[in-house]
Amino acid sequence: MRFYVDRIVRRRDVEPGGAADVVVEAFEAGKVSRSECASMLIDLLNPSIDTTASIIAAALQLFADHPDQWARLRDDRSLLSNAVHEIVRMASPLRAFARRAERDAVVGGTRIGAGSRLLVLFASANRDERFWTEPDAFDITRDARSHVGFGYGAHSCAGQGLGRLETTAVLDALLDRVTFIERRGEGERAVNNVIHRWHKLPLRLHS
Ligand code: HEM
Repeated sequence: MRFYVDRIVRRRDVEPGGAADVVVEAFEAGKVSRSECASMLIDLLNPSIDTTASIIAAALQLFADHPDQWARLRDDRSLLSNAVHEIVRMASPLRAFARRAERDAVVGGTRIGAGSRLLVLFASANRDERFWTEPDAFDITRDARSHVGFGYGAHSCAGQGLGRLETTAVLDALLDRVTFIERRGEGERAVNNVIHRWHKLPLRLHS
């Protein structure tokens, strides 16, 4: 990755006006070092590809398994933005991230000592039955905006607007043409400690 990114910086092989362009410009202006520039570019690349690909695949699987929801969305395209939130809630491709507690705290009745390492399970919170009604039901009409599939707070996902935009664009194009998404087998989950995604997902799109 480092090698790839160094080559990008050397050749200035970035989309003019894009996020990477801004980072390379800051390096050329001496505002960030070469190493910081490379790290920032990796920070843009690393969390953006598998997460978004995974959410698009999850969308297709959810709509294949819930054809009524696809029909509902075809009837009312204004539900699309909320549907994308509901897909992120259900699929939570980034299952969890680690944190280190800066000070002693009590969370949900459990004492957490300063310096402890924690695993924050976004995927679990997104199905928390104390918060969500019927958490395992895929319902594009529920208000899904409070999900934490993009994290929460100061470090919440820097690319969530882009991830949602890309997913919306793919679904919008499919809604024009596809009447029914057919599941053609069980599929296979990828083995991955961080991203919950499909390795194989056989589908047929009917127009
Ligand atoms: C649907 C797709 C995506 C999902 C589900 C997702 C999810 C997440 C999650 C859960 C976090 C951790 C937040 C935390 O630690 O509290 C995160 C962080 C981050 N994401 Fe995304 N992400 C997606 C797409 C993207 C894209 C497209 C980009 C970049 C263009 C991106 C860039 C980042 C960055 C830079 C961080 C670190 C933010 C920080 O620590 O301050 N993500 N993302």
